[in-house]
Amino acid sequence: MKITQTPLVILNFKTYLESTGEKALQLAMALEQVAEETGVNMAAAPQGADIWRLSQEVEIPVLAQHIDPVDVGGHTGSMLLECAKEAGASGTLINHSERRMQLADIDLVVSKATAADMTSVVCTNNIQTSAAAAALGPDFVAIEPPELIGSGIPVSKAEPEIVEGSVAAIKDINPAVRVLCGAGISTGEDMKAALDLGSEGVLLASGIILAPDPKKALLDLVSKI
Ligand code: G3P
Repeated sequence: MKITQTPLVILNFKTYLESTGEKALQLAMALEQVAEETGVNMAAAPQGADIWRLSQEVEIPVLAQHIDPVDVGGHTGSMLLECAKEAGASGTLINHSERRMQLADIDLVVSKATAADMTSVVCTNNIQTSAAAAALGPDFVAIEPPELIGSGIPVSKAEPEIVEGSVAAIKDINPAVRVLCGAGISTGEDMKAALDLGSEGVLLASGIILAPDPKKALLDLVSKI
């Protein structure tokens, strides 16, 4: 089922050991607990091999980190949308800065996700690519300046003009597309600043995954909204 509620927190598990295998499950359970305790919508984006396990164990949406622009058939080593869906993914990140795609391929995966009733989250790196992504009609565009990813310096404070500019450009092209922002987000103040700039949630990773107590970090993240 598609994600419809905001504010939304999507935790991208990336390939940290702290969010792999058994630890991925623990992290997903922490997300679920915080969602239940606070009423803030949370989603997990684990590695492909963890999608099935997590989707069996938690009720929050589980997203793929990437789907390949391929159809069924001979494509060894690819992540097929149909397979991710059967494994329990209800959506996918697309074009993350760490997994960039060509424009036509982004369009193909957004279209496939829409046809499969899966949530599409297209990641972008600046205002221009945010506008281009909005024209493809995904559910969400997530603006993440690459230089701030993993830096601990929050985009919502370091580059507020990119978030505000992306929100304006996206809404101008397609008001139905919702906007997230990410990169360096970790605290309640960072998230509040992101929402104040017009974003409807955050896409984040290291600030939670590498925190000594991820559940506590998540509670802090949503403490000011
Ligand atoms: O997809 C989330 C992301 O790239 C931001 O990473 O570690 O800066 O929260 P991080």
